[in-house]
Amino acid sequence: MTTTEDSAVSSPPRAAVKARNLRTDNWRRAPILTVLGITAWVAYATFRVFYQGDYWVADYYYLTPFYSPCVSEGCVPESAHFGRILPDHPLIPYAALSLPFLLAFRLTCYYYRKAYYRSFWLSPPACAVPDGHAKYTGETRFPLVLQNFHRYFFYAAFLISVINTWDAVLAMHSPSGFGLGLGNLVLWANVVLLWCYTLGCHSCRHVMGGRLKHFSKHPVRYRFWTLSSALNARHMMWAWITLASLALTDFYIMAVAAGWISDLRFIG
Ligand code: FES
Repeated sequence: MTTTEDSAVSSPPRAAVKARNLRTDNWRRAPILTVLGITAWVAYATFRVFYQGDYWVADYYYLTPFYSPCVSEGCVPESAHFGRILPDHPLIPYAALSLPFLLAFRLTCYYYRKAYYRSFWLSPPACAVPDGHAKYTGETRFPLVLQNFHRYFFYAAFLISVINTWDAVLAMHSPSGFGLGLGNLVLWANVVLLWCYTLGCHSCRHVMGGRLKHFSKHPVRYRFWTLSSALNARHMMWAWITLASLALTDFYIMAVAAGWISDLRFIG
């Protein structure tokens, strides 16, 4: 018996049209920009994660999100809010407990899947443009069938967003007690944007409102589902904005920690 899923990935190929595609617009632009954007971000993030320095500003308790939670023995003790439980090694990132889950969360995200399937694998590179490969099996086989684990990575990402929020709370600090500086605004902006991305996740939307027969009997879940749906409608935008905000937040904290610039202080 042929299932709907089988027929979706093994249906007959396109009609015999000689032209490679009939699009006349600049359809290559989006996949090229995606490759450039993701490659640049991955290069920067890889450098920073293994750099193991300039991630903590002792005076103001600024901790870059790339090192949160800092759980290596190499972490400055004050920056390790959850203990230093991993050995200090050049190949073990200081945030080795959270980074694999964040990576998996983004890799399996519905938007990023579309982005890298199109731009890196040309499968297909754009709507109405033939697939770059002779065979198409969708996500029905290993390893792509593992994309289904996205719903579980969502819970990990939710927890890490809570930790990032806690980092932002702790960073309201100065040597004299309470403090507020430009770094705090940068950290809080990043946290808010991360929540917009995380709570707009398709899995979150399902957690909030999935499998309900009557929204009227679940007004609280309906409210959360409505909020998640509103964020979900701009999920691609949040995906890109948070890549930028993560890199900019990290860069700002690195610049202050390295002494390249001073934090602009409003209080403390
Ligand atoms: Fe993008 Fe879940 S679908 S984060």
